[in-house]
Amino acid sequence: MPGTSVIGLQWGDEAKGKLVDLLTDRHDVVVRYQGGANAGHTVVVGPETYKLSLIPSGIINPGVQCVVTGGVVINPKTMLSEVDGLVSRGLPIAGNLLISDRAHIIFPWHMAEDRILDESTADGENIGTTQRGIGPCYRDKVGRSYALRLGDLYRPTLKSRIEHIVGVKQKLLSALDQSLSDSLDSDAIYQEYAEYAERMQPYVGDTNCYLLDAVDSGKQILFEGAQGSLLDIDHGTFPFVTSSNSSGVGVSSGSAVAGRFIDRIIGVVKAYSTRVGGGPFPSEQENAAGVHLRENGNEYGTVTGRPRRCGWLDGVAIRYSARLGGVDELAVMLLDVLSGLKELKVCTAYEVNGKKTSDFPSHVDQLRDAVPIYETLPGWNEKIEDVQHLEELPAAARQYLEFISHYVERPVTFVSVGPDRKQTILCGSEMKRCGSV
Ligand code: GDP
Ligand code: IMO
Ligand code: MG
Repeated sequence: MPGTSVIGLQWGDEAKGKLVDLLTDRHDVVVRYQGGANAGHTVVVGPETYKLSLIPSGIINPGVQCVVTGGVVINPKTMLSEVDGLVSRGLPIAGNLLISDRAHIIFPWHMAEDRILDESTADGENIGTTQRGIGPCYRDKVGRSYALRLGDLYRPTLKSRIEHIVGVKQKLLSALDQSLSDSLDSDAIYQEYAEYAERMQPYVGDTNCYLLDAVDSGKQILFEGAQGSLLDIDHGTFPFVTSSNSSGVGVSSGSAVAGRFIDRIIGVVKAYSTRVGGGPFPSEQENAAGVHLRENGNEYGTVTGRPRRCGWLDGVAIRYSARLGGVDELAVMLLDVLSGLKELKVCTAYEVNGKKTSDFPSHVDQLRDAVPIYETLPGWNEKIEDVQHLEELPAAARQYLEFISHYVERPVTFVSVGPDRKQTILCGSEMKRCGSV
């Protein structure tokens, strides 16, 4: 059973959704295994643009089974509105979507905690979360006693459990903001979630069983990572991270499929760097280059609409993520955004406490103090949105790709030059795989 995994190597929004959609027709099953509605994945097919948050980007391909596993935290309202949106656009969801009964559920108290706790941090320590309740829901999952999973919504004890949890949450929240505590009404929450449960029931099942059977029967499985490796709770830029394992190490724990069944790991890299929210970003450019990247790349958050912070490609960071995730090959996305820049910089080392290093620092303060050391490469002026073959790219664009590949020590197999499915250049082994050479 050859499985493929797609992992973002930066701070999210690397265009993972586009790559997953491209790869879907060679797979039987597409799996989302961590994160929640903090993710916003965009798929563009001709005149149609799809924005997906919880449902795998494979859903645009009819006939592919999409699975949301127990590693994901689910806001049922968001899930149902995503389902409704896709159905209203004529996509056949029934029978194609399976959601784990082990997935933890986001409740109104999680959203309230997310907002108030992130606002209550000391100066400069604000994570700038998406306020979707992700952190508080994962916190309750680890804490266990006040957590509810999708399967619990169908148990006769649901009402009494919600009443009990609301009582405890009110006590905790009232210490920070009485109005948030007062806004929690356990009867209304029970009614609302019982209705969501009924509407979601056709999609709910045991995804562990499903995926383990799929492995046994030799199905081709595609794993869609959310967020990016540098937002990983254990291996990212803690505490400015998300609350799940969003690097390559999270695939097995989130999906229940052992790593030995995954034989292709693709690291997705935006041709420059972006970050939403707080936290150090050594190669950030708050200048004309940063404005070029934001405006040409339309770098505004898919989920919150916040302007994304922009900067040069950070080679140190992506090399770390690629090694961490056991990445085999690279997909370099949004290369077209660089057209028109006279010169391009790639960070190839940091100076930390007077010492040069190409290791990614483990402590956030070291990363904050890191002075980026750049290699400068020539830019190009030509528009490249319509380029279909590597050799048609300007020489400077090819040099840039070769530089990345050489520095990260992985081949580049996909180059994306625009949001549409068709605006993709296949290179090297990927061309052979698709019979293009
Ligand atoms: P994800 O979260 O990793 O799936 O990425 P997002 O969808 O949040 O952000 C990527 C954005 O870039 C989306 O608006 C895509 O439509 C767009 N996009 C994807 N590939 C390209 C590309 O090669 N060039 C340009 N200009 N835009 C792209
Ligand atoms: P996709 O899958 C970019 C960021 C938030 C914040 C931090 C923690 O589209 O790449 P959270 O709400 O998860 O507690 O926020 O993580 N973040 C993302 N940034 N893309 C994402 O997802 C993100 N998901 C979370 O901005 O800095
Ligand atoms: Mg995104």
